[in-house]
Amino acid sequence: SASGGAKTQGNKAPYFDELPKKIQNAGVIKVGTDAAYKPMEYKDGQKIVGLDPDIANALGKQLGVRFEFTNGTFDGLITSMQTGRFDMIMSSMTDTKDRQEGLDDQGKKVGKGVDFVDYLTAGSSILVEKGNPKKIKKIDDLCGKKVATQRGTTSHEILKKQIDECKKDRERPLTIEPFDTDDEARVRLKAGGVVADISDFPVAANAAKSTDDFEVVGEQMESAPYGMAVTKGNDELSGALKQALAKIIDNGTYEKLLAKWGVE
Ligand code: ARG
Repeated sequence: SASGGAKTQGNKAPYFDELPKKIQNAGVIKVGTDAAYKPMEYKDGQKIVGLDPDIANALGKQLGVRFEFTNGTFDGLITSMQTGRFDMIMSSMTDTKDRQEGLDDQGKKVGKGVDFVDYLTAGSSILVEKGNPKKIKKIDDLCGKKVATQRGTTSHEILKKQIDECKKDRERPLTIEPFDTDDEARVRLKAGGVVADISDFPVAANAAKSTDDFEVVGEQMESAPYGMAVTKGNDELSGALKQALAKIIDNGTYEKLLAKWGVE
């Protein structure tokens, strides 16, 4: 025909041809995630569900391949992708310069870095026990206290910076108790071992809404884009993801999924 070309694979999905050959042949995109971040990604029995998997499914229809989510520790996802365990990461991961460039929190080069396809925006928030017994309103109020968070996240970084702030202004040190998952950090908060858990707003808001145990205080901190991460230079995969994403935004699917999961 005059338009398009022969689809040698016989796959009629709009953006199948944009995908790397390896993924076309496999018919599947392997995704690393930390599925302890409700409503973004979490386990329902053995199944990984949530907004990210739903967005991926919608992208899959445009790409003509399946997305297969595998659970892993958040702090190790980039390294795991670099060793070839996944094709990409979709885990509410904030698109940061350090991650793009493969730098650790000291600015030291520890990996080759990743490319991001941005798809959402969120910041960190402070989750406290319902009734807010310690009267915490902002991050400065955490000085002199013990706080939980998920290791290797942007919330963890915010708290590390706050340690220095607390040292500067007063003699009350901030203690961070990092956990591999935010679910564990919240368990610690519920048990009274810490005064707050710092995590992304959609997750904190969900915990406040779906239990009687918690409330969110203060404003979102350091709002920034979430990105789907691919290994640096995997332009075919990031390019295909970008096109498929533009399509599901354009056709209204994306908006419907945000509403379904109560994420703005
Ligand atoms: N957005 C934060 C970050 O990138 C936290 C993401 C945590 N994700 C998760 N699935 N546990 O550091």
